[in-house]
Amino acid sequence: NTSLLLDAPVGGEVRFIYYGDKLSTSDAATLLETEQKTFSAYPVYGLNCPSESALSVTHGDGNMTLQLEVIKVDTRKEQTADITTIRLKDKVYPFYMNLCYRTYPDADIIETWTEITHEEKKAITLNRFASAYLPIRKGDVWVSHLYGSWANEAQLAQEPLRPGIKMIKNKDGIRNSHTAHAEVMISLDGKPKENTGSVIGAALCYSGNYKLFFDTDDSDYHHFFAGINEENSAYTLKAKESFRTPELALTYSKDGLSGSSRNFHAWARKHKIANGATARKILLNSWEGVYFDINQEGMDQMMSDIQSMGGELFVMDDGWFGDKYPRNKDNSSLGDWMVDARKLPRGIEGLIADANKHGIKFGIWIEPEMVNPKSELYEKHPDWVIHYPNREPYYYRNQMALDLCNPQVQDFVFGVVDKLLSENPDLAYFKWDCNSMLTNPYSFYLKENQSHLFIEYVRGLYKVLERIQEKYPDVPMMLCSGGGGRCDYEALKYFTEFWASDNTDPVKRIFMQWGYSYFFPAKSISAHVTSMGDQSIKFRTDVAMMDKLGFDINMDKLTEAERQFCREAVQNYKRLAPIIQEGDQFRLVSPYSGNHAAVMYVTPGQDKAVLFAYDIYAQKYVERSYPIRLQGLDPQRSYRVVEINKMDSVPARPFVEDGKTFSGEYLMKIGLQAFSDFRESSRVIEITAQ
Ligand code: DGJ
Repeated sequence: NTSLLLDAPVGGEVRFIYYGDKLSTSDAATLLETEQKTFSAYPVYGLNCPSESALSVTHGDGNMTLQLEVIKVDTRKEQTADITTIRLKDKVYPFYMNLCYRTYPDADIIETWTEITHEEKKAITLNRFASAYLPIRKGDVWVSHLYGSWANEAQLAQEPLRPGIKMIKNKDGIRNSHTAHAEVMISLDGKPKENTGSVIGAALCYSGNYKLFFDTDDSDYHHFFAGINEENSAYTLKAKESFRTPELALTYSKDGLSGSSRNFHAWARKHKIANGATARKILLNSWEGVYFDINQEGMDQMMSDIQSMGGELFVMDDGWFGDKYPRNKDNSSLGDWMVDARKLPRGIEGLIADANKHGIKFGIWIEPEMVNPKSELYEKHPDWVIHYPNREPYYYRNQMALDLCNPQVQDFVFGVVDKLLSENPDLAYFKWDCNSMLTNPYSFYLKENQSHLFIEYVRGLYKVLERIQEKYPDVPMMLCSGGGGRCDYEALKYFTEFWASDNTDPVKRIFMQWGYSYFFPAKSISAHVTSMGDQSIKFRTDVAMMDKLGFDINMDKLTEAERQFCREAVQNYKRLAPIIQEGDQFRLVSPYSGNHAAVMYVTPGQDKAVLFAYDIYAQKYVERSYPIRLQGLDPQRSYRVVEINKMDSVPARPFVEDGKTFSGEYLMKIGLQAFSDFRESSRVIEITAQ
């Protein structure tokens, strides 16, 4: 449904013409003739120096200019996608760049990136190397993006673009979605609206340092650049070597922010996240229930708990490993991935046997990129660890990163997963954590090429993940990084889901899950019922059900009524999972706009839907809540609405429409009085076409 139009005459420059709603071939041809072709599709540093550039290099002879001309344009198939490559060469130097675009016939996403190579006598230096550039016509243009660090992830910021530079960046090295996210929505016609208005979405598919910025100068355009953050990362490229920048995924929708989100979600499920088409399992994770207190009986008890709830998987979190140094706190043992036989005398084999006894699957937590100085691994291989040889190290959470630039270290990290899986083929899930930024940035392996560290680390990580995926394509993995420190569309190629935050207070989670939903589909957002917050179990569960439901709780502490509620909710979720995980999401009422929040999902056939409505704060006596107008239904069809996940002990205004049938048109024009008007209360409504 979208068109990207460029002018790429052989021997000339490649020019940007248009990106937006789909154009007919004849309209595209007319525009190509009439458009002034003011903007390069990829500005390089060279002749027009005052403007920002996407690419800047120092040639082998010290010259810093570029002027690229089109040599050829070709298109090839790659599975179901088409890749169009505009091949460019510098007019003077043997310097080459491909400007690449991948389009999918079944997804409104265009991925774009560059490939750089050269045949100069000496190595060249890449000083700046953005993946993409996009001019955006001025008007009242707003950008929506996510910020927030540990325990405060995915907070939504929305602001108009004003003269000057608006930059979104990360320099953590590893946890690149703590601080900010490399995804943005650009609302083209005024203040962002959820279900109306033209919106461009952009997601940089990269797991390292990034930089996205809008340069608003005195022209009629905002200039958007996105790519790897070049700071401290000047890259030396030898002749014939090739440098590929990460992909920037672009989408466009006329249906507001929600429309762009749905495009991302559909593309993610079809083409991007690992096993995007498969169902996710309802799991219990041990962390918030027992923290480091791991032992065989306790794990057996938790497995029995999740089985009795109707869940399908148990995941043993941190605290299970270490021989010389037992992992009782976060100050030791990372790197020593052997079972602590004092805690688990029957080993992983015994745990899997217990899981089989309960009729569920067993999964395990690892943090394989990291090492504690107090570990056998560090004692044996200090040179595998990123740290300065001649300075006192700085520790974050008492740990340091392994040097994934080094192929031996890549083998070790791959080996952690490979050993666990080859010794325990029934191991059914990994939670892959990563709790530190890249501190003390010095690689023994890279020697004089230290400015490659941030980039080579990420490449090394991808090599490891690639090997794991190739050998174990069906084993689901959760991406975790001290909460939601790592979730981007390149990492998610290897992971089925991500841990959204260590903050599981449900009110906070409503905001976070709302934020994540701008870019990531529900089935990728792990949302667990925990004992954080003092809200009812119903409220906590109703919030977790908005995404991929799981548990992170000591179920012993629940009353029988609470357990019964959870059992029913799990059954409901199993029935609703195809709607929540595969359906189209509509954000209806923003938690940022007042006391309430509402989100719904609709199947593509518009025959089933589910509405989640949350009252967040105390109502004032005079305030009257309003009906929630639904979206995405067929106006001509009739739908029966039924409240589910009810819990008598939780106060709520009765749902007056319960059990009744309405036309789709009524539900979208008038709506449902689903808010319940009590502080921190919630309602889940199942909607079925008759
Ligand atoms: C941080 C994660 O976000 C938690 O869920 C848990 O796995 C801890 N790490 C374990 O150390």
